[in-house]
Amino acid sequence: MKNIPTAARIDMLEESATLALNARVKQMAEQGKPVYNLTAGELPCKTPEYISDYVATKLDENKYTPASGLPVLKLAIAEAAKNFYGFLELELDNVVVTAGLKPAIYASLLSVINPGDEVLVPIPGWTSYSYQIKLAGGTPIEVELDENFDLDIGAIKQKITSKTKAVILCSPNNPTGTIYSKQRLEELAGVLNAAKIVVLSDDIYSKLVFSEDYAPPAKCGFLNLVILGGFSKSQALTGWRIGYIIAPNGIASAANKVLSQIMGNASLPAQYAAIAALENNDQPVMMAELLENRKFIINQLNQIEKIDFKEPHGAFYIYLDIRKITKNSLDWCEKLLNETGVALVPGEAFYTPGFARLNFAANKSILQTALNLLKDFNYEESKK
Ligand SMILES: Cc1ncc(COP(=O)(O)O)c(C=O)c1O
Repeated sequence: MKNIPTAARIDMLEESATLALNARVKQMAEQGKPVYNLTAGELPCKTPEYISDYVATKLDENKYTPASGLPVLKLAIAEAAKNFYGFLELELDNVVVTAGLKPAIYASLLSVINPGDEVLVPIPGWTSYSYQIKLAGGTPIEVELDENFDLDIGAIKQKITSKTKAVILCSPNNPTGTIYSKQRLEELAGVLNAAKIVVLSDDIYSKLVFSEDYAPPAKCGFLNLVILGGFSKSQALTGWRIGYIIAPNGIASAANKVLSQIMGNASLPAQYAAIAALENNDQPVMMAELLENRKFIINQLNQIEKIDFKEPHGAFYIYLDIRKITKNSLDWCEKLLNETGVALVPGEAFYTPGFARLNFAANKSILQTALNLLKDFNYEESKK
């Protein structure tokens, strides 16, 4: 086909830093080479049976639903959120169901920010926030988390300008697996409330928590709050595409307008999957395995002197600090893969070179082999 020039906005986008690596992982596996893939952003299990059984009874239904989702699902989400966050009031109009959490974030950004507005993004942080902010006409402003991956209130204050419209929070965090402390969140709420700055709280990992100290940001006093939730991680439903927004009426209705024009409703089977999940209290799957793997990985990593890490308190990631070895985690991950078959995501993908993300929701024997290989891996930086 004849080439068509792309729109200027596409120049703002970059292909994910992980793509090349993923291609290589697949290629190696296809060539029959041993690969220990710890890069995934998802649980390795199949759809929980209580979900597939329930959805199987609904497969003859095939019509559009309201763009913001089935009322019965919105009601179930509102009720679950009241329990989880301790909200007294939440109406159906506060809930918008989306095809996964990604469009929930984008529709919220389009509803909240004007061109030129700044959005603070704590780093290490999930890859897509910055690109979505740019696509929505805003400017992402990175703010480093502190050395424990907690919020650095001083650093955030320094980055706030008259253009700051929103902050994206993510706790438990991708890629660090850590949680923000309640104390810092409450402190931040004071700062952001005074400046009328909106918090977009990405709660996709809020059910996968290993610490009693966990405080969802939504319980920490933020007055201008949008919650972004979903079932991809807690229910291993990444392929089904189902998530939601909980927001004040104006923002929820704006996000609904956006989504009704560009996407329409989330697929009907996925909405039924969410209903089944909520009937089961959105109990996370694989929690016992995750706890066991977490313990195992911490124990193993403690034996590798040159790699530092913070213990994860949620999600299924551990963020390896390889700065004693190199800051070039792209090169380190590439060589680790080539020489040992162990695949990790380089920290460059999360705006923090010198780190690598490991998904510990893997089969125990794969983890064991991968950790042994990691212990023996001798890295030599490429000569420039
Ligand atoms: C922090 C974070 N937010 C959002 C998403 C996107 O979730 P979904 O697959 O439901 O679109 C992911 C997926 O990796 C994530 O890690």
